[in-house]
Amino acid sequence: MKDLFKVISEFKGNKKGMFLETVFGNDDYSGLFLHILKKADEEYKNIFFKGMAKEDLKWFEDSIKESEDVDEVKLNEDLAKIKEIANNLDKHEKEANQKKNEEAIELRKHLKAGFENCGISDQSMGKKSVPMEKEYDKNGTIIELPEPNKKVILKENIFDCIGDRESRRKFTDEKLSIDELSYLLWATQGVRKAFPEKNVSLRTVPSGGARQPFETYLTIDKVEGVPKGVYRYLPLEHKLIFLFSDDNMINKVNTAAYGQSFVGNCAVCFIWSTIPYRCEWRYTTESKKIIAQDSGHLCQNLYLAVESINCGTCGIGAYSQKLMDEFLNLDGIDEFVVYAAPVGKVEIKKEEPKVPREA
Ligand SMILES: Cc1cc2nc3c(=O)[nH]c(=O)nc-3n(C[C@H](O)[C@H](O)[C@H](O)COP(=O)(O)O)c2cc1C
Repeated sequence: MKDLFKVISEFKGNKKGMFLETVFGNDDYSGLFLHILKKADEEYKNIFFKGMAKEDLKWFEDSIKESEDVDEVKLNEDLAKIKEIANNLDKHEKEANQKKNEEAIELRKHLKAGFENCGISDQSMGKKSVPMEKEYDKNGTIIELPEPNKKVILKENIFDCIGDRESRRKFTDEKLSIDELSYLLWATQGVRKAFPEKNVSLRTVPSGGARQPFETYLTIDKVEGVPKGVYRYLPLEHKLIFLFSDDNMINKVNTAAYGQSFVGNCAVCFIWSTIPYRCEWRYTTESKKIIAQDSGHLCQNLYLAVESINCGTCGIGAYSQKLMDEFLNLDGIDEFVVYAAPVGKVEIKKEEPKVPREA
């Protein structure tokens, strides 16, 4: 173990980055190295983790915890392999890069239009579509929302709303009014016209084939007149249904967002799930792209709507799929989270632009 960490401690320039790329660009190697880290003394771990970003440290901590235990024989095999990699980085990095490129090119197919490969849809086969809103307990606790009303708007000019839009990650402790929440829900998923017999609705956001494959969950902490808790929006009725309360709600959301603490610490966090079959019924395999495209519409409308009422938001793509789905009791197969956006009141002063680390 000592030899390996000596080599790592002596990496110069970009070598440590190369080592990480090589080891973590390959699932086989990353497993081996996690075994080693799991068994390593603090002293060695410190050598490895020195200068690492907080988010990466967290990833390592979690992955080490989750990795299987290994015996001495296996550990020695792992050490020999990783030492060989550390000592022959140039060769290994080249192989790893090639593999990564091939994988990336393969995955790009998901961004391309592929209607010709869709096959015959359930719609074409005459199968009935599924409801445009998830079932809910009619005896549950329902919160009536006021009709969406222009009176909440402080900044009326669409030109200004677009020009001033930015991601906001600092919110004040001020509560949102229920009129403001009603407006934001209408702006993101509000129904303009419903055709219940056809399971179709037209909303304030466009959606490929009018499939509207999303459900909106809210973690409410600061909304006047609404008890704290987790709710689901019922777009057809323009109401909320209370789902559950959890004293640890804010922490759980923050943890699920990889420690981005503004995600839970807000007035209300929008968490959007998708029910893919709503879209697959019509577009089969093409749905994945349409759902991704559609989710952007929801969040962009939220960005513009919050801008008009002195609130802020930030699209959240970095979250743990498993933790976020578990938090909302979603099965992760027929329904799972695709996007989130915390909302809160903001100081008028703009935030310093936060450029993403990789940008
Ligand atoms: C799909 C998507 C995912 C994002 N995920 C995160 C995130 O997880 N955490 C975060 O702080 N910002 C996130 N952002 C916000 C971007 O970092 C932000 O839009 C970008 O830095 C540009 O800044 P602006 O929105 O103020 O123009 C995300 C934005 C988008 C569109």
